[in-house]
Amino acid sequence: MNVVPDQHRLEVGKKSIIHDPRDGDARKITLTRARGSYVWDDAGRKYLDCTSQAWSNSLGANDPRVIEAAIAQLREITHARPNFNTHALLELTARLRDITPGDLNRIGYCLHGSLAVEMALKLAFKNRPDRHNVIVMQDAYHGRSITTMAASWPHPNNPFLAISPRFTRVPHPDAYRPRMGMDVEQESALCLSLIEDTVTKGVDGGVAAIMVEPIMGNGGHIVHPASFHKGVREICDRHGIILIWDEIQSGFGRTGAMFAADLYSVVPDVMTFGKGIGGGFPLAGIFASDRLEGFDAGEDALTFGQFPVSMAAAIATVDAIIADKLCDNARRLGDYATQRLIEMSERRKLIGDVRGPGLFVSLELVRDKITKEPSPRAASEVYARSVEKAVLFGEARYAGLGNLIKVKPPLDCTHEDMAMALDVLDEVLGSIERDGAY
Ligand SMILES: Cc1ncc(COP(=O)(O)O)c(C=O)c1O
Repeated sequence: MNVVPDQHRLEVGKKSIIHDPRDGDARKITLTRARGSYVWDDAGRKYLDCTSQAWSNSLGANDPRVIEAAIAQLREITHARPNFNTHALLELTARLRDITPGDLNRIGYCLHGSLAVEMALKLAFKNRPDRHNVIVMQDAYHGRSITTMAASWPHPNNPFLAISPRFTRVPHPDAYRPRMGMDVEQESALCLSLIEDTVTKGVDGGVAAIMVEPIMGNGGHIVHPASFHKGVREICDRHGIILIWDEIQSGFGRTGAMFAADLYSVVPDVMTFGKGIGGGFPLAGIFASDRLEGFDAGEDALTFGQFPVSMAAAIATVDAIIADKLCDNARRLGDYATQRLIEMSERRKLIGDVRGPGLFVSLELVRDKITKEPSPRAASEVYARSVEKAVLFGEARYAGLGNLIKVKPPLDCTHEDMAMALDVLDEVLGSIERDGAY
């Protein structure tokens, strides 16, 4: 094996990557190493990673407990087709059943969030076979498979639209940008009544499922009031609709609770999970209510549906989240971050809004606090200038506004690291304001 990187070979490799080169463009960093809240690039530069790699390294990267568990599993068995059980699968299932909300005691696995959403939809259609519609929120994000792209915010140029299933996007409340003259509770009530109208009058045929992200992630970090979640649950109950909560981004401690369902005291019928559960290894799936019928043989069997190495890593991750009280840490550190950002917003004219909860932290950058005109340019500048100062923040590429900065390090990030990240953010916002680069 060639151990010394040959620069020419690496350049050729970069050009051969099929994904759109604009996705990350010239700033794309080649990562070579990761530990805890830090990553290193191929020039040996060290960065504080406030993205946890798509908010997925719930524990800091390469946590020794996770790595040891994965290596031990690698030595035993790495692959089993879905007709077989493995100890890792049974053990993880038992662990998860102890922490799932309400009666969500049945668990299905896959390797990617998008496929978990597809699994949730399939289960809803299986349980409501005479209904073909799914209601989703207008700014929702549910993934990048053909079906989940159709379920997400309108992609500026979705080339797969011709083969879309029947999704209807409905409005949802937005506390920072409420509809004319309303407060968020009034807007919540209006949206609920529009959703119920859509169920009864807005689609041909019945509605099998309503799918909601408890806190909207890629669609702008929009936090919904509890009244909205309660109201959607009630609509589902009144009309026999399956309520799916997509907790791929919010689950496993990110919000300061194990699941957002615990925060809002709402139990959906199906909940998707992914990202943080694997401690950096790919794993996703669904929790489903005992009341729902499961899949028959062959209805949802994927060759790599259970990757024992990811499952062993997930057992170690879930154990560590509980043992290290990382939900508490996410809450404490998140409170500290949002408080400091609110204080910063009093001095920094670019910060329009600060959002939580827990370590689901973000800020909206605006050109004007009164008009709330979004500034995607400021977000782009924050990202680029922070990279120069060795901190990686998340950026929203969302088609709607594109002006969000996300501060979402691993759940076990230290106070000192968070303080340093916020100092850098303050400094770069100051320099962008001075340069008028927004
Ligand atoms: C709420 C939500 N659902 C689904 C997905 C898709 O997950 P994946 O990228 O693992 O397919 C994501 C990813 O960002 C997400 O945030």
